[in-house]
Amino acid sequence: MDLASKARFLAEMIVASSKAVALTGAGVSTESGIPDFRGPNGLWKRIDPRLATIQSFKLFPEVFWLFMLKSADLILKAKPNRAHYALAELERMGKLSSVITQNVDGLHFKAGSRNVVELHGNMREAVCLSCGYVIPLKEALKMAKRSYFSPLCKKCGGLIKPKVVLFDELLPCKALEKAIWESRTCDLMLVAGTSLQVYPAASLPEYAKLRGAKVAIINEEPTPFDENADVVIRAKVGEALPAIVDLVKEALRRA
Ligand code: OAD
Ligand code: ZN
Repeated sequence: MDLASKARFLAEMIVASSKAVALTGAGVSTESGIPDFRGPNGLWKRIDPRLATIQSFKLFPEVFWLFMLKSADLILKAKPNRAHYALAELERMGKLSSVITQNVDGLHFKAGSRNVVELHGNMREAVCLSCGYVIPLKEALKMAKRSYFSPLCKKCGGLIKPKVVLFDELLPCKALEKAIWESRTCDLMLVAGTSLQVYPAASLPEYAKLRGAKVAIINEEPTPFDENADVVIRAKVGEALPAIVDLVKEALRRA
C-alpha cells in the first residue's frame, strides 16, 4: 500500500471506531523544535541517559537542574504543531477519546486537547522528594538559578525535583491507571511519534491489541510493534495527522 492508500485506510478505521485513543511520544513535538530522545538528533545521542535516573538526580541534583535551566525555556516556550492541532481537532469532532502522552511539554493541552493523560509527568510543577510539597516549576527554576546547588524545600529542606518521571521512578499512579483503562477499552489506538522502547508506555498498544482493538502507527522510524500493527505509516506526524483528519472530515460529511 502506498502512503495515500494507508492514510485513507486509517481514516476509514477512525470513522468506523467507537472509541479511539492516541498514544504519543517525543516525535509529535520535534516539529515544535523540541528534540526527541532516540531519533537521529535525539537527546540520548548527546547526553548519557544514566544522568536521567532518579539515583543520579539524588546524587547530583545540581547537574540535572543545570540541564533544566538550559532546556526549560525551549520547552516552556514551544508552540503546538500541526500534529497536536490535528489530534485536538479529532477530539472535538468526537472521534478521539483521549491522548495518552509520554511528553512533559504540555503541548497537547496548548493545542486544545482536553482529555490528556500525562504518563511521564509535566513541566508545570516541581515536587519535594522528602515531603511531597509541590511548587510551580518556574519558581523552582528561579531558585535553581540563584543557588549553585539545587532548589531545596521551604517546608523540610528536602530536594526539589521537576515533576517529570526519571528512569527507575514510578509513574504517576492515576495517570498509569487511566492509560491502562483507556488502552483496554478502546477499539482503535493511534500511536504517533514514539519509538515504543520505554515501558510501561510501550505495553499500552499490546493491551489494546489483546482486547481486540486495531493499532495504527505513525512514526518516521520502525518500532518493535510494527509487525503487530494493522497499519504503519512511515511519515512526519505533522504532515500525516492533518491529512488523515481531513480525510475523516470528508468521510463524515459524506456519511
Ligand atoms: P523517542 O525519542 O524514543 O522516539 C521518538 C520517535 O519519534 C522516534 O522513533 C523518531 O523516529 C520519531 N519521530 C521524531 N520526529 C518525528 C516526526 N516529526 N514525525 C514522525 N515521527 C517522528 O521518544 P519516546 O518514544 O517518546 O522518558 O520516548 C519515550 C521515553 O523515553 C520518554 O518519555 C523519555 C525517554 O527516556 C523518560 O524520560 C522517563
Ligand atoms: Zn519538603
